[in-house]
Amino acid sequence: MRIKILFFIIVLFIATGLSAEEGRHVITVNYPPDRTIMEFGILSMSLNVPKGSADSISILVNDKEKLRIVADSEFECFSVPLAAGINRINITAQREKTAVDSIEMTVFRRSDLESAYKNPPPGFEKDYFHMKNRDQCSACHILKPADTDKKPVSVSAFPAEKLRSRDMSAADSTCYSCHKNLTAYPFIHGPSAVWSCLSCHDPKAAPVYAVRKPDTKVCFGCHIEQKEEWERKKYFHGPFTTGSCTICHSPHASENPSNLHKPTLDLCLNCHVDKGNGRHIVAAVGGSYFHPIRGKPDPLRKDRELSCVSCHDPHASDSPRLWRLNVGSGFELCRKCHTD
Ligand code: HEC
Ligand code: HEC
Ligand code: HEC
Ligand code: HEC
Ligand code: HEC
Ligand code: HEC
Ligand code: HEC
Ligand code: HEC
Repeated sequence: MRIKILFFIIVLFIATGLSAEEGRHVITVNYPPDRTIMEFGILSMSLNVPKGSADSISILVNDKEKLRIVADSEFECFSVPLAAGINRINITAQREKTAVDSIEMTVFRRSDLESAYKNPPPGFEKDYFHMKNRDQCSACHILKPADTDKKPVSVSAFPAEKLRSRDMSAADSTCYSCHKNLTAYPFIHGPSAVWSCLSCHDPKAAPVYAVRKPDTKVCFGCHIEQKEEWERKKYFHGPFTTGSCTICHSPHASENPSNLHKPTLDLCLNCHVDKGNGRHIVAAVGGSYFHPIRGKPDPLRKDRELSCVSCHDPHASDSPRLWRLNVGSGFELCRKCHTD
């Protein structure tokens, strides 16, 4: 009997010893796990902050403070912006102006556009949030998708003003409470602007919410006019041929017109580094000309700057050099803007 009690005490001692060891951290990161791979520029985070343990929390990403929150709830949910590649995240909890806890973790933001960030370093893994039971979260959030998350969205009947009015129809989206920052950009893609998330994300897919590949299967479901127009052409752009629409376009929202991941020129130069000086345009003319490719108004497109897409179609064309403007030769192309 006594031995049993002694044993119990020892077990209790070990157990409390262990929990004291774990208890070194005041705050707990519920999401994300350390060393996760992310695809987009926003990281969702959720922390546990026991009552009275801290009064403010600061979040640094790669040594820059991105957010400071007043710790007034046991569950703190927020999101921070991510750069491509490794992001070191430091979470520091303060109480009465002294640091009481500090957690460091890293996430890797993958990017198909930049070859340096295409492949994650060893040790990083993708964590599919919606593949696990998140009982901890469903106490406050709705994690079962509703019919209203898939609203019919027609390209031809889409009212453009919806793109400018924030969070349209967000109220009946179950995704909104966690993913609201996904559309917090100036240029929002139609279906995302009205929070019709299930237009593309399939709750029955594996992994849950996976989008069909290649992108064309999804995009051409709505952009029928473009599909028909482009498929009539003779030549197709590399990434278009592989159906990778989202390598250039965000399906959600971005800083740039047409929801491009980057301003047009930067986008093109990601893969065509050597075209950055405009030399290729006038090379055939001879001499040491450099053609402007930025900083000048496009004479054929009102309110647009001259850039790669002044002359090239990023999707398809009837010329092998992917010229736009329906021209058959380089000379004809020059004449569109240079009539003298
Ligand atoms: C105690 C209630 C509660 C729990 C539990 C909870 N949340 Fe939240 N969460 C909230 C509230 C309130 C908001 C703010 C909603 C709003 O402003 O629309 C929020 C917002 C969020 C946001 C958006 C933050 C932003 O600013 O972009 C994310 C992401 C999030 N929660 C994830 C989670 C995850 C993951 C879990 C589970 C680990 C979780 N939450 C558990 C209450 C909770
Ligand atoms: C409780 C909060 C919460 C709700 C509600 C929620 N999500 Fe998420 N979701 C997350 C978090 C956290 C991630 C991890 C990635 C990130 O940081 O955004 C995520 C990731 C995803 C992913 C990437 C794949 C994965 O499983 O990691 C998709 C796609 C997605 N959510 C779609 C949706 C859609 C569509 C809805 C609405 C039907 C929805 N989510 C509702 C919190 C939530
Ligand atoms: C036009 C199609 C489309 C719409 C509409 C759309 N998404 Fe996505 N979403 C995608 C694609 C494509 C990806 C890239 C991942 C993939 O290919 O599976 C993605 C990825 C995501 C991710 C993963 C981010 C990561 O870091 O891995 C989240 C979260 C997400 N979507 C949430 C949403 C939410 C919330 C909505 C509604 C506002 C929405 N999406 C609407 C196409 C769409
Ligand atoms: C559910 C229908 C739907 C799907 C699926 C869809 N779109 Fe859209 N898209 C729209 C609507 C609606 C608009 C806004 C109307 C408009 O501007 O023409 C839009 C606008 C756009 C624009 C901006 C047009 C402009 O002139 O600024 C681009 C670019 C675009 N979509 C690309 C895509 C890509 C890439 C995909 C696939 C990942 C996709 N769309 C999938 C409905 C859809
Ligand atoms: C190489 C990058 C790139 C790829 C890949 C790409 N786009 Fe685009 N897309 C652009 C650029 C740049 C524009 C803006 C063109 C302009 O300013 O004239 C654009 C414009 C658009 C528009 C606006 C209307 C129009 O007709 O120009 C739609 C819709 C669109 N893209 C859909 C798609 C779809 C669907 C795919 C996949 C089949 C795709 N894009 C693949 C770069 C790309
Ligand atoms: C993700 C990488 C990627 C991006 C971004 C990209 N391209 Fe390309 N581009 C390619 C590939 C791959 C080819 C095919 C290469 C080949 O056949 O030699 C190609 C071919 C071309 C060609 C035709 C070359 C020929 O065969 O004569 C032109 C013109 C072109 N791209 C223009 C653009 C413009 C303009 C943009 C920006 C809107 C752009 N590209 C963005 C990958 C890209
Ligand atoms: C003023 C019109 C014009 C602009 C602007 C322009 N191009 Fe071109 N591009 C041409 C012409 C003309 C050719 C054909 C050159 C030849 O065949 O010698 C060409 C050819 C190409 C080719 C394929 C042939 C090669 O030399 O590899 C690519 C790729 C290309 N351009 C990419 C771009 C990119 C990227 C930009 C933006 C930085 C751009 N172009 C801006 C007119 C233009
Ligand atoms: C989409 C319109 C457009 C097309 C097509 C175009 N250019 Fe230009 N080009 C411009 C603009 C704009 C300027 C700058 C004019 C200025 O400085 O005000 C320019 C300037 C030039 C210059 C002068 C450069 C300098 O340093 O002053 C030359 C040479 C030139 N273009 C040759 C060509 C040739 C050759 C072609 C055909 C392969 C061509 N351009 C096609 C718009 C175009």
